[in-house]
Amino acid sequence: MLLGHEKVSFLHLPTPLEYLPTVSRELGIELYIKRDDLTNLGVGGNKLRKLEYLLKDAQDQGATMLLTLGGAQTNHGRLTAAVAAKFGMKCAIVCVDDYPGELSANLLLDRLMGAEVILKKDDGRPESVQFDEVAASVKARYEAQGEKVYSIPVGGSNDLGILGYYECAQEITAQAKEMGITDATLYAAVGSIGTYMGLFCGLREEKSPLGLVGVAISPFLDAKEKRIVDYFGSVKKKYGLTCNAVRADFHIEKDYTRGAYNNPCKEVRDAVCYMARKEGIILDPCYTGKAFAGILDMVREGKIQKGAKVIFLHTGGLPGIYTKHHRVEFEKELIDGVTILD
Ligand SMILES: Cc1ncc(COP(=O)(O)O)c(C=O)c1O
Repeated sequence: MLLGHEKVSFLHLPTPLEYLPTVSRELGIELYIKRDDLTNLGVGGNKLRKLEYLLKDAQDQGATMLLTLGGAQTNHGRLTAAVAAKFGMKCAIVCVDDYPGELSANLLLDRLMGAEVILKKDDGRPESVQFDEVAASVKARYEAQGEKVYSIPVGGSNDLGILGYYECAQEITAQAKEMGITDATLYAAVGSIGTYMGLFCGLREEKSPLGLVGVAISPFLDAKEKRIVDYFGSVKKKYGLTCNAVRADFHIEKDYTRGAYNNPCKEVRDAVCYMARKEGIILDPCYTGKAFAGILDMVREGKIQKGAKVIFLHTGGLPGIYTKHHRVEFEKELIDGVTILD
């Protein structure tokens, strides 16, 4: 029971907290990685911790189906499909997006796990209006078939979802303490802000010695980020937190978004290759690769000082590397290392 809420425990927690010796030596910092990419369902990732809490709520409401929203390659959609499959529920994922031209990456995995994917071409109206319209019609269609539909917002980022990362903050703090890491800062990619807000509340409320820096992966400033103090206030009220925060306490770096969400970008590909070649850990090109590229820049710029202790949260997203637009760019750079013999 966390802050008065139960969850369905389906993850093998804690995920490992590992030291990265080679990258640490080369960067002159102490770099640790929290392996939330190793959560054990549907290829893993951060959304599963949120889904432990959301699934409990769905079950309590007697739901037979999970309905969620996102882009065509949503990691959250894929993990919602995995949870639905494991717990014998139906799943539908509504996307305001074009068909990416092939059934690959997350979209392929969604279908492998039995989820219906509904792609709605963006017609230029506010995305939320389009999502609401299509989700309402999909919900009505399934309800007419007798399903009890439980709706989950984009990224699973609501008051219940963030509990997954409140709990993760406790987990990292305990692991860091055991490993003798006290004055470290946790860095995490920020999308729909749920992960960041959960970590922020968990670290603060539990009086963790760890700092927190979010790395924005999109130049689009989420409405929640603009109202982050209000957002925190509502979470504080809901759960009766005793900690306080002012605007300056929320540290989200916005200089490393590389101009657009999920764009194929050389610096991100270089960061993904660097981690893969030095530590054998695969980052994704949309979130973790971009956040790590930001960390590399911050080290170069001196924003992260030599000797600093950094814990990088690996939030998953691996299938993104197989999306066509990223694959094509990687192929151009990496094909020269493939030798084809007659
Ligand atoms: C792999 C990955 N990392 C990080 C994030 C960001 O998490 P949040 O949306 O909670 O900010 C996401 C969100 O989709 C994700 O898929």
